Amino acid sequence: MCGIFGMIGDGAVGNTLRALGYLEYRGYDSAGIAALRKDRIDVYKTAGRIAALKKFIGDVPETDIAIGHTRWATHGEVCAANAHPFLSPQGRFAIVHNGIIENYRDLRRELNGALFTSDTDSEIVAHLLEKEYRGNALEAVLATARKLRGSFAIAIVSVSDRVLYAIKNKSPLIVGMSEEGAYLCSDIRCASHWASSVAVTPDDTVVELSDNGARFFRLDGTPIEVAFFAPDKAEEAERVDGDFMLKEITEIPSKLRLAEQGYFSSGGLGLTRDIARRLSRVYLIGCGTAYHSGLEAAAVARQWLDIDVLPVIASEFIYDNYTVDGDTLAIFISQSGETADTVRACERVRRSGGIAYAVTNTDSSSLTFACQRTLNIRAGAEYAVASTKAYNCQLVTLTLMLLDLGRMRGTVSDATYDEVLRGLEELPRAVEKILEDGYGIAQLAEQLKNSTAIFYIGRTADYPTACEGSLKLKEISYIHSEAYPAGELKHGTLALIDNTVAVVAIATSRELRDKMASSVTEVATRGAKVIAVSPYTFENAVRLAIPETHPYLYGIAAAVPLQLLAYYIAKRLGRDVDKPRNLAKSVTVE
Ligand code: AGP
Repeated sequence: MCGIFGMIGDGAVGNTLRALGYLEYRGYDSAGIAALRKDRIDVYKTAGRIAALKKFIGDVPETDIAIGHTRWATHGEVCAANAHPFLSPQGRFAIVHNGIIENYRDLRRELNGALFTSDTDSEIVAHLLEKEYRGNALEAVLATARKLRGSFAIAIVSVSDRVLYAIKNKSPLIVGMSEEGAYLCSDIRCASHWASSVAVTPDDTVVELSDNGARFFRLDGTPIEVAFFAPDKAEEAERVDGDFMLKEITEIPSKLRLAEQGYFSSGGLGLTRDIARRLSRVYLIGCGTAYHSGLEAAAVARQWLDIDVLPVIASEFIYDNYTVDGDTLAIFISQSGETADTVRACERVRRSGGIAYAVTNTDSSSLTFACQRTLNIRAGAEYAVASTKAYNCQLVTLTLMLLDLGRMRGTVSDATYDEVLRGLEELPRAVEKILEDGYGIAQLAEQLKNSTAIFYIGRTADYPTACEGSLKLKEISYIHSEAYPAGELKHGTLALIDNTVAVVAIATSRELRDKMASSVTEVATRGAKVIAVSPYTFENAVRLAIPETHPYLYGIAAAVPLQLLAYYIAKRLGRDVDKPRNLAKSVTVE
């Protein structure tokens, strides 16, 4: 989702273009930059990829102040006119924006008669800056900031004083400094390519960035201190011969080991026995794949915990009336740590006095700053929009956390705990075996690619796996897909089953094997092609075998053939698997 970058320093145009490359992973549909010249700002923007922008810009002269933007359309179609930056009417300011200005319609009405060049909510900022300008750019920025409602990280170039400004509320904004320059950026990973020290800008803040350094202000103009720290240096974005998604799936075995080691080396659950015993509920909160890992972890933890473990979709949690008090542990799951819905849900828990933990792949993210404790899943950077290895590693971390909680509450014995640890040790090898069968899965994909719909079914802890398999398929192949608890099919969805659809049945439970066999027969007799993801064989179904593993850990292994199946189907349909249409890697608006 939108990425912003700004720089004061030599080679600002070249560096900004390079930074937009680092921000590509967030997902975008158009891009642009603004370069400050002696007494004007030049804006270059196009629909499409950064490569198109570079071609469009050609060999423009360098400068020492520039801002850039990758846009993921929310207001207004994808076209050059709606791409950022936007110039203010008299050309005094140029702005780029990540987030949503919720009151932009009201603000536009107030500017009765003003000529807008786009359909975006963002352009209003450029107009307000001009309107509020009375000879002092900082005052104009502060006055504009006070009028905005919603979520925004805005970078502003000002011609009059040759300064970069920023306004920040609820969308991530990093300020960076180095010997060579000063920077504004949407994420630390990108900023760390230049900055030797970074600061996370608090909400409701205006930043002034000049040759003299960074100054931070509350919206009433009061200066505030914000701490700088040295970021971990991001590695150069790797280039792979094939697709990032496939590379990330093949990394799962090694990352599972790191997730387990990381959990123990970082001190584990980190609750005192008293607090663990006093807890009355645990929420597992996230979006998309992260929500599914919560759904799966809750399904297995129900086997051993004596309190409610409730998986909740973050965007629902914010507006619903879930009970939160001092005896509530809320675990927020997010690969990026920047998902706006998840961060908002966390703020809600903190306001209500609950204990907020982050399970994330990204240290120093908005989520880690909002939570009291962070457990890093150590999956390594994910570039493909479709999350894969993070899911498996989230499950390792969550399973260990909830097992430790069970131990502290006396509901998990040492023997059970040791058994699961042994199972975890064997898991990477089990996943390697699944990966070795990639060719078989690719062949199956060929047979399934023309299905009109693919349904995923499972019971109890296999149902979340079905949800994740279905999400993976729909997001990268664009085939219609839904997941159901297997027993629920006959209450309506069975009407959709015929010989044009496929059904993927996840069946890892020995006890529920016969029940699943009935579900498989139910859909097979109606003509569906059935694939069973299981350690067992089923009549009427092609089997994607998974090795036997500990019952609490099946979800971690069973997701892998589903990730591969989605990947190969999408490839056979010629989709852009790493950058599927309409989706963003980092969803920074609610
Ligand atoms: C996963 O394949 C999706 N692209 C998406 O559902 C993702 O999991 C979701 O947006 C949450 O992201 P997060 O883990 O970075 O918070």
